[in-house]
Amino acid sequence: MIAVEARNIAHHVGQFALQNINLTFPKGQVTAIVGPNGSGKSTFLKIVSQLLNLHEGYMFVHNKPIQHYKQKEFAQILSMLPQSKQALPDLTVEELISFGRYPYKGLFQQQSSNKDKEIVQWAMNITGTTKHRERMFHQLSGGEQQKVRIAMALAQKTDIILLDEPTTFLDLSHQLDVMEMLQQINIDYGITIIMVLHDLQQAATYCHNMIAMKQGRVAQVGQPKQILTPQFLKEVYDIEACIKFEEDFPIIIPKRRGGKKDDHRNKQVQAY
Ligand SMILES: Nc1ncnc2c1ncn2[C@@H]1O[C@H](COP(=O)(O)OP(=O)(O)OP(=O)(O)O)[C@@H](O)[C@H]1O
Ligand SMILES: [Mg+2]
Repeated sequence: MIAVEARNIAHHVGQFALQNINLTFPKGQVTAIVGPNGSGKSTFLKIVSQLLNLHEGYMFVHNKPIQHYKQKEFAQILSMLPQSKQALPDLTVEELISFGRYPYKGLFQQQSSNKDKEIVQWAMNITGTTKHRERMFHQLSGGEQQKVRIAMALAQKTDIILLDEPTTFLDLSHQLDVMEMLQQINIDYGITIIMVLHDLQQAATYCHNMIAMKQGRVAQVGQPKQILTPQFLKEVYDIEACIKFEEDFPIIIPKRRGGKKDDHRNKQVQAY
């Protein structure tokens, strides 16, 4: 079963073009989108979530073209955590997370129903943000804010969640918290997760599939542990590195650019 399908997508913004994007995202699985800065990852997620209009091609969610959904109907199926540049109003944590319930409210309905409140509480529990519920969002640290933003997306209670760099601003321990939490909601609720990640080791650990983009095109698709090779790193990131597997998980050891400056280190890399 396919949750999201992109067929022959092309999109132009300024000098940049996404081209020839053909991808399928299996239902109930976690897919990472990786690739260098400026390769079009966020642009692609914005097209799937209808934050940007589709210029060319077809995008299907649950086999239906995205433009055929009504706005609220679409927001009940797919939620999106944009890259953290997006400004949010200065409200309390609980008020902001309650915004996630907007697709389920009628035109003149301001009050939250008991079900809305329960789901907001669930989203706060899962993300560990209950302790901040009364605090103003803008007074939180970057990492705390990021968890609240994830809670907003969860409160939408959708089958599909898109996340653009969900671990930005988080220290290592909180990055693992978030990745494990996302893995758990994928297992417990069968939610399809599509997320942009920069950390390839996290992609290999937590994702069923990986898509690598480069210069607006899809460079590689596959299971992370299978496609993560030195050739992959060369092709996608233009870096020389070796990959060592430790209990089935890749450890990437890049060679320093300009090589000879640190001969000792490069010899160690080659020794693997
Ligand atoms: N509104 C815009 N006008 C002009 N160029 C744009 C616009 N939005 C994005 N771009 C350009 O399109 C390219 C792809 O941007 P995008 O945000 O999709 O990259 P990305 O892969 O998400 O990068 P990053 O890893 O840095 O977040 C970039 O070169 C960016 O400068
Ligand atoms: Mg981006």
